Amino acid sequence: MTQHCFTTVSAAGMDTATAYRLICGVVVPRPVAWITTVSRDGRVNAAPFSSYNYVAHSPPMVAVNIGTRLGDLKDTARNIRETGWFCVNVATEALMETMHLSGADYPPEVGEPEALGIDLLPGHATPVPRIAVSPVHLECRLDQAVTLGRGLNTLYIGEVLAFHLSDTVYDGRHVDSVRLRPIARLGGPFYAALGEIFHRPALQRPPGERSSER
Ligand SMILES: Cc1cc2nc3c(=O)[nH]c(=O)nc-3n(C[C@H](O)[C@H](O)[C@H](O)COP(=O)(O)O)c2cc1C
Repeated sequence: MTQHCFTTVSAAGMDTATAYRLICGVVVPRPVAWITTVSRDGRVNAAPFSSYNYVAHSPPMVAVNIGTRLGDLKDTARNIRETGWFCVNVATEALMETMHLSGADYPPEVGEPEALGIDLLPGHATPVPRIAVSPVHLECRLDQAVTLGRGLNTLYIGEVLAFHLSDTVYDGRHVDSVRLRPIARLGGPFYAALGEIFHRPALQRPPGERSSER
């Protein structure tokens, strides 16, 4: 067995930069939610967020942590608060470059989709457009916004009102992870693709299913 030689770093009173570097380095890989929102005056915004996951299945809910920028709300956070809607577009390997560029600091009056030539599709369950080249869209209604810790981070919890699933990745029952080719965020300026995939039989029935057969 490996004998680890640990460095123990107390998090009490840790400065923000160190805490960010450590937490983002150890919570890996992270899926990337490429979130579209609409401002009060109708401008469509798109930005990537990897402090993101699903947090409930009944009903399906996702959560994303959006930090402040120099003490102000990011455009995505402001739009979610003001309208109550957002759409998570799954970021894939093929979309990495454009998704990454959309994370630059665009002023609020500049919509990233327009600036970067990102084609949009209309929302069905919400007024928020979806990113056409993404194979999966989750249209969400804001359920709760929970401000955390010293107030620099807010967790936006959304109920998924509609899943839009491309037939390139969805067979009517399962989403094929290999065909989805999701991009993951690592610590620092790094991304990763899916590596080797392992199969083990399910040990418990998925919630709501009568048999463990998939
Ligand atoms: C891959 C990636 C993941 C990111 N994840 C987050 C995140 O989880 N939370 C956050 O506040 N910012 C995150 N950012 C930074 C935002 O995308 C960035 O601040 C962006 O300018 C926000 O845009 P907006 O003002 O249009 O909302 C991430 C950036 C990249 C490239």
